[in-house]
Amino acid sequence: MIVSGSKTQALAAELAAVTDQSLAPVEFERFPDGEGMARVGEVDDHAIVVASTVSDEAHVECLQLQDAAREAGAGEITTVLPYMGYARQDRAFEVGEPVSARAVARAISTGTDRVLTVNPHEDAVCEYFTVSAESVDAAGCLADPLPTDLTEPLFLSPDEGAIDLAATVANAYGRGDTDYFEKKRLSGTEVEITPSDAAVGDRDVVLVDDIIATGSTMSESVAVLNERAARAVYVTCVHPLLASNAVLKLSRAGVEAIYGTDTIERSVSEVSVAPAIADAL
Ligand code: R5P
Repeated sequence: MIVSGSKTQALAAELAAVTDQSLAPVEFERFPDGEGMARVGEVDDHAIVVASTVSDEAHVECLQLQDAAREAGAGEITTVLPYMGYARQDRAFEVGEPVSARAVARAISTGTDRVLTVNPHEDAVCEYFTVSAESVDAAGCLADPLPTDLTEPLFLSPDEGAIDLAATVANAYGRGDTDYFEKKRLSGTEVEITPSDAAVGDRDVVLVDDIIATGSTMSESVAVLNERAARAVYVTCVHPLLASNAVLKLSRAGVEAIYGTDTIERSVSEVSVAPAIADAL
């Protein structure tokens, strides 16, 4: 039985349909002091908690859902984190910083028998859980919403770390080249992009990344590509966090279209990762 968090209701419904399982009744409340409450009705023996931890509140809600499912009688709990928050702080970058990914992974491990997470920033984050944890690669589905008639497509990642994602999308699309830019992060909201010498003139370029957060990485890349006379620039990502003014930044940079999956429910969530999760369950 699927137990959905408040931020993943559409994905949980899709996963229930794909796996032919039922959706547990879940209610969300908020007390006057601001604390949340996730209440789970009946569950069967295996509860699959589906919760993207997109905020601190969503983290607490995930822990509550695990606990409530156990209280409701589940003997086995699998926790699916379509988007795992804090995964990018996977080491202490400066003295005194926490390894936030490890801290939240340990907490989530206490309430579950197994964890699945979709395209975390680094697969190594799975090692921080103290129960069995695997990453699911859903990047192939990002090819689905792209126009079928792209002109000499180039699948480009904004940094070397995402080149495998770009290659996966290119393979799923069925044609096109793959390349990457170099990125230097200057601050939380500023990046410097150094383009490669890939020919982009009069070609359709698809920028591929794991996540669009502030949109700085993608908007800088779109601007570089437009300066170099790309025909059109599409951006696609697994996790369309799109914080603050990210959509505005991308639009001002001249993006043709933005696509993402439903790990985070946004207006650009054009494709579902439910089939990829179902395969891994
Ligand atoms: C980091 O390397 C990730 O792959 C993304 O490129 C990054 O998190 C995107 O962040 P933003 O949208 O804030 O530039």
